[in-house]
Amino acid sequence: MTEEERRALRAMMGSFATGVTVVAARQGPLLAGMTANAISSISIDPPLLMASVNRSSETHAAIVGSHSFAVSVLSAEQQQLAECFALPNTADKLQRFCDASWHEAETGSPILDGALAYFDCRLNASHPVGTHTIFIGEIVASGHEERDDPLLWFASRYRRLAPA
Ligand SMILES: Cc1cc2nc3c(=O)[nH]c(=O)nc-3n(C[C@H](O)[C@H](O)[C@H](O)COP(=O)(O)O)c2cc1C
Repeated sequence: MTEEERRALRAMMGSFATGVTVVAARQGPLLAGMTANAISSISIDPPLLMASVNRSSETHAAIVGSHSFAVSVLSAEQQQLAECFALPNTADKLQRFCDASWHEAETGSPILDGALAYFDCRLNASHPVGTHTIFIGEIVASGHEERDDPLLWFASRYRRLAPA
């Protein structure tokens, strides 16, 4: 595939509007987290979701190592966190976890305070596909806040909800 074809396909994929999450996991004493929108509910009973994570990311290593991950759904107020967690991994990012305040539920994976919703997952299955791994998580704890609007991603830009 040429660079031009790659760019065109990325733009086409970008016309699918999504919410924005941070997928995070423990890596020993450190915390790894990444902005992610390739997230989908799989089923309610059993409670399963999937996240597609680049194998080169630090978060991938942390999920494999800890056998768990947490998905925090970002509110419109959390765009700065989305920007930080989308930065390429550095030792500083791992040390500081974007200076985010967080808590844990069942698995010990970090959940961002102020998230619209969270899903704390135990790893159920991993499917390597191309450059990514599709992680299937069994949701062992979850919660949500109804007061805030979500942060959205469309055509390579963060967006906010507008009334239809
Ligand atoms: C809106 C948005 C959505 C993203 N979604 C994903 C995703 O679903 N999977 C993925 O592997 N990378 C995704 N990325 C890229 C990662 O956030 C980025 O590669 C990050 O640097 C990985 O961090 P890490 O290496 O510290 O884990 C997304 C980036 C943005 C801005």
